[in-house]
Amino acid sequence: EKGGHEYFMLKEIEEQPEALANTLRGHFDNGRIILDEQRLSDQDLRDVDKVFVIACGSAYHSGLVAKYAIEHWTRLPVEVELASEFRYRDPVLDRDTLVVAVSQSGETADTLEAVRHAREQKARVLAVCNTNGAQIPRESDAVLYTHAGPEIGVASTKAFLAQIAANYLVGLALAQARGTKYPDEVAREFAELEAMPAAVQKVLSTVDQVKALGRQIADSKAVLFLGRHVGFPVALEGALKLKELAYMHAEGFAAGELKHGPIALIEEGLPVVVVMPSPKGRAVLHAKLVSNISEIQARGARTIVIAEEGDETVRPFADELVEIPAVPTLLQPLVSTVPLQVLAAEIARSRGYDVDKPRNLAKSVTVE
Ligand code: F6R
Repeated sequence: EKGGHEYFMLKEIEEQPEALANTLRGHFDNGRIILDEQRLSDQDLRDVDKVFVIACGSAYHSGLVAKYAIEHWTRLPVEVELASEFRYRDPVLDRDTLVVAVSQSGETADTLEAVRHAREQKARVLAVCNTNGAQIPRESDAVLYTHAGPEIGVASTKAFLAQIAANYLVGLALAQARGTKYPDEVAREFAELEAMPAAVQKVLSTVDQVKALGRQIADSKAVLFLGRHVGFPVALEGALKLKELAYMHAEGFAAGELKHGPIALIEEGLPVVVVMPSPKGRAVLHAKLVSNISEIQARGARTIVIAEEGDETVRPFADELVEIPAVPTLLQPLVSTVPLQVLAAEIARSRGYDVDKPRNLAKSVTVE
């Protein structure tokens, strides 16, 4: 039932194109983005003047990714917050605040309490959830289901990609209601999302290369992950996967922070995974990362670069280059995350750990 794989997680990684396609299906009809259980009117959506995304773990990272797109498309301020922090703060919310609660299980205790905390202050709550009828969607004003299917591996993979896609649909629904995007632009963004399952399928062709790389660096003391813009939360997600599966010290950084501390960690042979933005997208971001990589390579780091196919400028600085397909900048996390999932799983396997059931972790965290 693991589809011929040694562990479920790899099967679930390979199911990601389907998880994305299923999550998008039926959400664009008659030229409009459609949510699932919608108890918010178009007027409610038009009145939204601030968005909070609240979640834990990987779901939180999906929110960090979506912030870039939602702000760009809607011109609304978006704050992304760990549910465990949000629920004990005194956040500034009112009925025009949209709180997006992202949870695969729909039962995470901190996220549920954060939803209740938001509702007490009259904020509208939209759940992004992978589990039909779970508690979080039951207590929300609207729901958008991710159709990733059940995840057996404790570490989130296909649900994470589906969460990003669903968060993007929320962003497009807001842009549509507010008129910050013309209908043909919304249609174009949706069409770009619809092209992503094929792009993810393509990135799966790097699995063997990344597994071999994982075996080579499995004895490292630590691995660092660097990214900028949407690549920054991808770096955080890559580091989380490695911590939870391989019990290795791993940290994700915004590449721009290197000089503010983390560069002191660089030493001979330390693997550093760098998520490169597209050279054709934001050229300035790309140039800055090339310069970051050259700096860490000069200090002896072993650079593992995730870059768009045909990105020649980065090649001289990459000790190992993993090529991902060219996709629009905001959608790149849907492809760049995949090699990081495979890397963590394979390092864990080579260290002799149970990839599907990492120690001390539970699939659904219903206690704090
Ligand atoms: C990481 C992981 C966890 C969950 C987190 C939230 O691989 O699986 O960090 O993402 O516990 O869980 P849900 O989405 O069920 O609220």
